[in-house]
Amino acid sequence: MTPDLFDHGDEAPTGREALAPGALVLRGFARNQAEGLVAEIDAICARAPFRHMLTPGGQRMSAAMTNCGPLGWVSDRRGYRYQAVDPDSGKPWPPMPGAFLRLAADAAAEAGFAGFVPDACLINRYEPGARMSLHQDRDERDLSAPIVSVSLGLPAIFLFGGPNRSDRAERVLLLHGDVVVWGGPSRLRFHGILPVKEGAHALLGRQRINLTFRKTA
Ligand code: SIN
Ligand code: FE2
Repeated sequence: MTPDLFDHGDEAPTGREALAPGALVLRGFARNQAEGLVAEIDAICARAPFRHMLTPGGQRMSAAMTNCGPLGWVSDRRGYRYQAVDPDSGKPWPPMPGAFLRLAADAAAEAGFAGFVPDACLINRYEPGARMSLHQDRDERDLSAPIVSVSLGLPAIFLFGGPNRSDRAERVLLLHGDVVVWGGPSRLRFHGILPVKEGAHALLGRQRINLTFRKTA
C-alpha cells in the first residue's frame, strides 16, 4: 500500500491507504486527540472495568474489553450479543463521550460514509501477547453502516481478509492514532489482530487499545 500523502518531519505518516472497495486506513487520523481519548477511556474503565470475556466455547479472550454507549458487545457461554447493561455491574454502560462520537463520524465521513452515528463502542485492551483471531463483525442489525476502528498505544498487525475465512488476509501495521474504516462491499470482511509484541508506548505503556465503533440497530 502506498500512502498518497507523506509524513511531516519525523512523525509517522498521515494520509489514506486503500485496502479494498469501502475499506481504508486513515493514517494518524486520531493522533492529535489521543491524550483526550485516553482520559475518556480511563474515566470509562473506572465505571466499567476491563474484563476478559468468555467465548461461547468457554475460552477466555486474551484481549480485555469494556464498552461505552447505549449498547455494549458482550460474549459469554450463551453467545455474542449487544446489551444495554454491563453484566458485571448490572448498570448501563458509561455514555459515549462526545469526542468519541465526533471522531467516529469524522473518520467515517472521510472514508465516504456520511452521517455515521454509532450506538456502540467496544474498547479492546491488548497487553503483549494478546490477539484477536479472524472474525466478521456480524452481530449488528444494520450492515449499511461501516465499522470505525481506532488504534492507540503499541503497534499491532491487523489482518484484513476477504468475505470467506479461508481468503488470504493482508497484513497491515497499525500505529498509534491510525483509524481503519470498512463498510459497503467490505463490511463483512474477516479481520483480526496478530499477537501484540512486547513494547512500551510513550502514552499507554505496555498496551494497545482499540476503539471499535458500530451502529448495531
Ligand atoms: C476487533 O475486530 O474487534 C478489534 C480489531 C482491533 O483491535 O484492531
Ligand atoms: Fe471485529
